[in-house]
Amino acid sequence: MTVSATDARPDPGAAALLATLRGCVDAPDVLVDPVDVEPWCHDWRRQFHGRPLCVVLPRTVEAVAAVVRACGQAGYAVVPVGGNTGLSGGATPDASGRDVVLSLARMQAVRRIDPVGETMEVEAGCVLRTAQDAAAEHDLLLPVSLAAEGSACIGGVLATNAGGTNVLRYGMARSRVLGLEVVLADGQVVRGLRALRKDNAGYDWKQWFVGSEGTLGIVTAAVLQLAPRPKHRVTALLAVASPEAALALLRRARRDLGDTLDAFELMSGAALGRVVQHCERVLPMPAAAWFVLLEAAAFLPGLRDATEALLEAALEHGDATDGVIAESARQEADLWALRESITEAEAREGRSYKHDVSVPIASIPAFLQAADAAVVQALPQARLNVFGHVGDGNLHYNVIVPPGTDGAALNALVHDIVVRFGGSISAEHGIGQYRVGELARSKSAAELDLARRIKQALDPQGVLNPGKVLPAPPHGA
Ligand code: FAD
Ligand code: MLT
Ligand code: ZN
Repeated sequence: MTVSATDARPDPGAAALLATLRGCVDAPDVLVDPVDVEPWCHDWRRQFHGRPLCVVLPRTVEAVAAVVRACGQAGYAVVPVGGNTGLSGGATPDASGRDVVLSLARMQAVRRIDPVGETMEVEAGCVLRTAQDAAAEHDLLLPVSLAAEGSACIGGVLATNAGGTNVLRYGMARSRVLGLEVVLADGQVVRGLRALRKDNAGYDWKQWFVGSEGTLGIVTAAVLQLAPRPKHRVTALLAVASPEAALALLRRARRDLGDTLDAFELMSGAALGRVVQHCERVLPMPAAAWFVLLEAAAFLPGLRDATEALLEAALEHGDATDGVIAESARQEADLWALRESITEAEAREGRSYKHDVSVPIASIPAFLQAADAAVVQALPQARLNVFGHVGDGNLHYNVIVPPGTDGAALNALVHDIVVRFGGSISAEHGIGQYRVGELARSKSAAELDLARRIKQALDPQGVLNPGKVLPAPPHGA
């Protein structure tokens, strides 16, 4: 018997499509039971909810292509998903019952590592940490790092062009991509798994798919550029009096540690207070208004002395008011756990609206002043949870709100200020469905028109992740 996971109206095409899909993959790899599909019915934060027709878990690129083709022919949509850790609702199906969730979870091989070329070929469903560990076995580094790395998959990381904590030194996920294999909306497989640092033969099409959040193609495998693994690492937590002081510290750290500096994370005292409260973590120094977690890594000795000197100078000049340098791997991990628990603590604290914004780095203090004043005036009961990759100009300006808050109005309020500062309304999490209504705020009409033309050229039927990034065209259009 055909049982659809959807509560929506029965669709005569559904049974036929399910039968076809069971021929594209092993039949048990098509999940329809509501209990089985439940994990894919909502996003990580449980802010978005839907019901797919089914969840399909192909094991090969050919099977992915067959699934996409079948869905397109039947007039159904495909929602690709990796680890489902995205923070913009990009991997959550809608409630129509006409979305097929395509999980890459069964395609998780690390196919090969070239230690001389420092490259890795990996399938889309490989968990980021597994890929990092595989690189480490060859004394190499896959320098993409985020708190969700134990669940996020390579395909999701590339489809969102993820940022994380070491963009300052290594760039966003896009900068790691040498080659890509994608399945297009019509089921065509484009194989571009070249391990070349230099390749100017025509358009660099792989970058069209990086950051496209599953709306232009399905990433099935990638060749990633690895990096040499530094031999020495220093991690420090510093208390700073203000965002201005944090920027003075950033400048000092860039000057004194150069490009060994690979993380410079700002965290408000309130955000870390919530981590202490909800996540059983301990702050190794008294509470302060702001904290900076910095990490530097080098190949040659002397890094620790340089960091100690930096800390001394920062304390002497008032850039920092307190500080601690980790003495062991255990202490390093404890300091990082403070930073990486912020999202979880925020989720436990209550309903929040996220603003994943970037502004020119020097504007961060003025932006914070303007945004804080506006939010406090509009929502006196709101609690700010502010932190971010300040070395990249990226703040997570998250606002924890009482029930009944008009989230759209809050988003508009903050994003207006972002735009005033010449910033972006999505530094790293993408648009997904969370920010679709806000995109026009930070992109010009010409940029939006260009985006629509690309979507139209690659996916004229709107098979791939409709309603994400760009508004879905009106029904029947
Ligand atoms: P999913 O959530 O499964 O999907 C994300 C998007 O990509 C969706 O639009 C989906 O349709 C699409 N997609 C997934 N796989 C494919 C594929 N193979 N082909 C095409 N499209 C695909 N993000 C950051 O950038 N920086 C951070 O510091 C960061 N920290 C985080 C911390 C926590 C605690 C959490 C929960 C999330 C964090 N994120 C961060 C967000 C998220 O982890 C990243 O966006 C991650 O890259 C998503 O990977 P995923 O496999 O979970 O993708
Ligand atoms: C992080 O940097 O930890 C996440 O991107 C931020 C978030 O949860 O808003
Ligand atoms: Zn982040």
